[in-house]
Amino acid sequence: MELAGRLWNHVPGMLAALAEAGSTWPKIDVGEMGNLMAYLQAHPARDPAPDFSKGRLLLLRKGCLKCHSLAREGGRGEPDLAEPRADYESAAAWAAAMWAHTPGMAAMAITKGIPYPRFSGDEMGNLVGFLKHAAATAPRRRTQTAPSQ
Ligand code: HEC
Repeated sequence: MELAGRLWNHVPGMLAALAEAGSTWPKIDVGEMGNLMAYLQAHPARDPAPDFSKGRLLLLRKGCLKCHSLAREGGRGEPDLAEPRADYESAAAWAAAMWAHTPGMAAMAITKGIPYPRFSGDEMGNLVGFLKHAAATAPRRRTQTAPSQ
């Protein structure tokens, strides 16, 4: 998860550099992300157990709720972060999902004038740990289908 945080931080700079070079965003799927993490010697299995209360605080401090809702509270943007997501289950899956979607988030942050959040140390692990916990415990409207992926 620490590496997922570092990849996240990396996005705005990469976007700018790629735009200048006229290139498109590289695609990395979950398997490739797992291999990349192994190569970079990130060890998700050694992630410490997440601290839910720190994770909840991070969700506010990092500004996720300026755009997203959590169990229908907060921002109006989809997806609601308390919807169960397969990518909360592993660091590689989370990093791959964030890798694919951060260009969209960073672009929206720029147009809305919202500072793009940065992560260090165990912050990403605590945040995603809290989201996974929230997704498992949040009341859910039955009519809604969980996001595919
Ligand atoms: C400036 C607004 C903004 C902020 C701040 C923001 N997001 Fe997003 N988020 C978006 C947008 C827009 C999308 C859709 C992007 C896309 O699909 O390319 C998205 C997509 C997502 C998705 C779905 C990815 C998928 O696989 O569909 C998740 C999960 C997510 N954000 C989590 C977070 C978390 C956690 C934070 C805080 C650390 C955060 N977001 C902060 C705007 C934001």
